[in-house]
Amino acid sequence: MSIVVTAASGNLGRLTVEALLTRGVPASEIVATSRDISRIKDFADRGVEIRRADFAEPGSLPAAFEGVDKLLLISTTTPSERVANHRRAIDAAVVAGASLVAFTSMLHADTSTTTLSPTHWATEEYLRERLPSVMLRNGWYLENYTDQLPQILRGGTLVGAAGQGRISAATRADYADAAAVVLTTEGHDGKAYELGGDEPFTLTQLAAAISAATGKRIGYTDLPVDEFAQVLVGAGVPAELAQVLADADRAMSHDEMFTGSGDLRRLIGRPTTTPAEAIAAALR
Ligand SMILES: NC(=O)c1ccc[n+]([C@@H]2O[C@H](COP(=O)([O-])OP(=O)(O)OC[C@H]3O[C@@H](n4cnc5c(N)ncnc54)[C@H](OP(=O)(O)O)[C@@H]3O)[C@@H](O)[C@H]2O)c1
Repeated sequence: MSIVVTAASGNLGRLTVEALLTRGVPASEIVATSRDISRIKDFADRGVEIRRADFAEPGSLPAAFEGVDKLLLISTTTPSERVANHRRAIDAAVVAGASLVAFTSMLHADTSTTTLSPTHWATEEYLRERLPSVMLRNGWYLENYTDQLPQILRGGTLVGAAGQGRISAATRADYADAAAVVLTTEGHDGKAYELGGDEPFTLTQLAAAISAATGKRIGYTDLPVDEFAQVLVGAGVPAELAQVLADADRAMSHDEMFTGSGDLRRLIGRPTTTPAEAIAAALR
């Protein structure tokens, strides 16, 4: 019986496989899947079984999920195909006899007004009706900001549309560690964890943290949602994704990406990585 991690070539999937290994799961008990197994060959070299799985190709899933005990279903990247893809993966997990499926949903998937939330909520509902399950409602990634540090430093400003909304962002590594915990410990069936960092921040505060870390004066420029979307398009973000990201900022301005649940800290058994630590790590 194995722990199966989907999307193992992606950022979060990769970190989750690493977290499982760090937590002492034998490599032989982990199955990592990807649409292209050449991208996860490094895991095979370390004894992890790699299998091809494409949720758009249901025929690929029985062999991919064979022998699964617990499955981590990482939400896929294409919003328009997401629900159908996730349903096919869940159907295959049912057939394979999974004892638990953990799904990487999004913060407040049940009440969120973002354009991102309906696909996550629909997946949660479909999954809950079919299998023992746990929802990992991941908040925003800190990397969404730290990856932009070169541009922010060049421009002297952090641009967004989140007003003074509080954002409980955390690193992918912390979310991945939480996933590893629910896959390796008991008592998670039926839970929906609202996962976010211990130190919520406004974008004004984040700009101040970047200033403190770099010694450069960085401000926060708050734009109307449509203008922010245009700025993102101008920076090379595809128009559809720019709308999604600007809409997420709109929701952030209403604290929709804030949580004070403490679920992430409790699951991983330590404080979450702070924004200042993530900025310092990205600058190294
Ligand atoms: N919380 C946030 O701030 C935030 C930000 C961005 C995204 N997300 C969500 O979190 C997920 C994981 O984040 P990430 O950073 O790891 O994303 P990522 O690096 O882009 O990885 C996404 C993964 O989705 C998998 N995928 C796409 N289509 C698939 C399909 N048809 N069948 C099976 N797998 C498919 C890909 O797997 P293969 O290519 O290996 O098949 C890829 O590894 C994203 O997919 C997205 O839903 C959250």
